[in-house]
This record gives sequence, C-alpha cells and structure tokens, in this order.
Amino acid sequence: MGESRESLEHDVLIALPKAELHAHIEGTLEPALMFEMARRNGVDLPYPDEASVRRAYNFEDLQSFLDVYYAACKVLVTDDDFYDLTLEYLRRAATQGVRHAEIFFDPQTHTDRGVEFATVVNGITSALVEGERQLGVTSRLILCFLRHLSAEAAMETLETALPHRDAIIAVGLDSSEKDNPPVKFRDVYDRARAEGFLAVAHAGEEGPPEYIWQALELLEVQRIDHGLKCTDDEGLVDRLVSEQIPLTVCPFSNVKLRVVPELRQHNVAQMLRRGLCVTINSDDPSYFGGYVGDNYVGTARALDLSRDEMFRVARNSFSASFLPEADKQRHLRAVDDYAAKIGAS
Ligand code: ADE
Ligand code: ZN
Repeated sequence: MGESRESLEHDVLIALPKAELHAHIEGTLEPALMFEMARRNGVDLPYPDEASVRRAYNFEDLQSFLDVYYAACKVLVTDDDFYDLTLEYLRRAATQGVRHAEIFFDPQTHTDRGVEFATVVNGITSALVEGERQLGVTSRLILCFLRHLSAEAAMETLETALPHRDAIIAVGLDSSEKDNPPVKFRDVYDRARAEGFLAVAHAGEEGPPEYIWQALELLEVQRIDHGLKCTDDEGLVDRLVSEQIPLTVCPFSNVKLRVVPELRQHNVAQMLRRGLCVTINSDDPSYFGGYVGDNYVGTARALDLSRDEMFRVARNSFSASFLPEADKQRHLRAVDDYAAKIGAS
C-alpha cells in the first residue's frame, strides 16, 4: 500500500463514527496533565519529567502496568482534577470519531487515599455534561470494583454509590485478573443488578476462558471486557456468537501488556470472522500508545481488515452500547450513511 493510500485509510477510520465502550478514565491521564496536577496539589511524582514518565511505560504484563497506573492516580485529588481529566479525554476522543463513550472509573483507588466518592463522581459527571454540550459526545459512567481487593470492600463501594445511582449506568470489574475470578464478586453483582445497575466485567484478558463463563453465568453481564481468551474454548465461542454477547477488545493494550506478542498476531480478525460481536477500544490510551481511532487504524493495517469489516466494528460499538434503542438506530444510520459515502476498500 502506497503512502497516500495509507493516509487515506487512516483518515477514513479516524472519521468513522464510533462509540468507545472500554476506556478507564484514570488511564487517559496524559503525562503533561499528570505533572500539572502534581504541581497544583503538591504531590511528589517518582519521575523528574514527562520523558522519564513515558520511558516507564514499558510493561511486562498487566500487574506491572497497574503498579504504574495506580501510583499516577495520586495526583487526582479535587473535583477540578477529575473534571479536567474527563474533559481532556472527551476532546481527544471527539477528534477520533467518537460520538458516544461509556467510561470506567475506579472509585476505590481514590477513596482508599481519602478522596470522597462524591468528589470523583461529581468532577467526572460535570465534565460529561460539558463534553456533550461542547462536543456533542454523549456518555455513560461505569463503576468498576477492584478485583484484587475483597468482595466486602466492593459491597461497601456499591453502598457508597447508591446515592449517586443516577450518574452510573453499570458496574464493572477490573484490576489484577489472575487468581481473582468473577465468582468472588457474585453477591456484589446480585445486589448491583437488584439495585438496577447493568453489568460488565473484565474477563479473559490474561485469565482463562473459565472466567468468561463465570462472568456470563454468575455475574450475568451484558458485555465482556477484553474476552480475547474466548478463542481457546470453542463451546464458549459458540455461546458468545449465538447470543451476540459484545466483547470490548483493546488491541494496543493487549500488545503493550504482552497478552499477544505483536499486533499482527492478534486474534481479533479471527474473532470477527467467526461472527463474534467485536468492538475495538483504547483501554488506557495515554499508556498504550493511542486513542480509539488509532486502535482502529493500527489494527486494520496490521491484520489487513477491510473497510467493510471496520464498518461492522463501528456498528457493533453502537449496538453494544447502553444507549436507548432510538439513539442506537440514529448512530447506526450515521455509520451506514458514512459507509455508503466512502464505499468499500
Ligand atoms: N485497569 C485499567 N486498565 C486495566 C486493564 N487493562 N485490565 C484490568 N484492569 C485495568
Ligand atoms: Zn480495561
């Protein structure tokens, strides 16, 4: 493919209307903003400058990333910090074709350091309102429990969240997957669903297909976050295909965390061609080398995915969202109109 053809495909995939369904707001903290917040809050960072922060983004696995990510979260202290973080993410996302974003946040990372739950939610929510006003990007918020902490701590977090339930659409499960199976959080999810929350969970990122089964059967999730290990279990793939359970795949993340050795060997093409409801997302874009549009471009190039396949990924992102049906249909029409205008590759 020549230079100009490549840059055309880049622009086509960046402008493609899409929803992002898997982005951790704490993972959108860019080094420049990290230093600004550290300065204004008097927080010491273990790095002298932005370049050394970026050099630290060389990870062995999920845990080695999480250690750096949780340490950086210490700069987030005030309502304004959560507001600035969220609005900066929405601005970047909007330049990459994002029309709707369902954003994770990790309240325990903040409340365990003495930051009020209300500070976190109010700061993020104000920015989401402003983002819709300024950029036309709609959004929803998903509260993630940290799975390396206890089920009791997750239940307390859920109770703290109840007065803010109107701001939160769903609960999720993230952090260290190995040895922290979904079953550990069964009671918490039962309670969350009874309180009216939808449910998602990270499963099958580093962990086995069994964790995906547990997320489906025990936590009764609407979507699986990551889920790429499903292809090790043909019976599981059959179930995910027949029920069209969406998977929020994050290709750049999987390479940076060494779940797959390189993008060209990612199984997302195989997953799409097997009929799974695949979406493509950024996970922690400031740490993993790109936002959601960059993930579309890099993945399509590395795996030689066609425009039609990428249009399908964009359609999946809206149909897998938690938007009301009328809004889904409006976005799906926008993808169809875009695809008709651009044509197949
Ligand atoms: N928290 C932030 N990013 C994560 C990931 N990729 N997996 C699990 N927990 C996370
Ligand atoms: Zn994630």
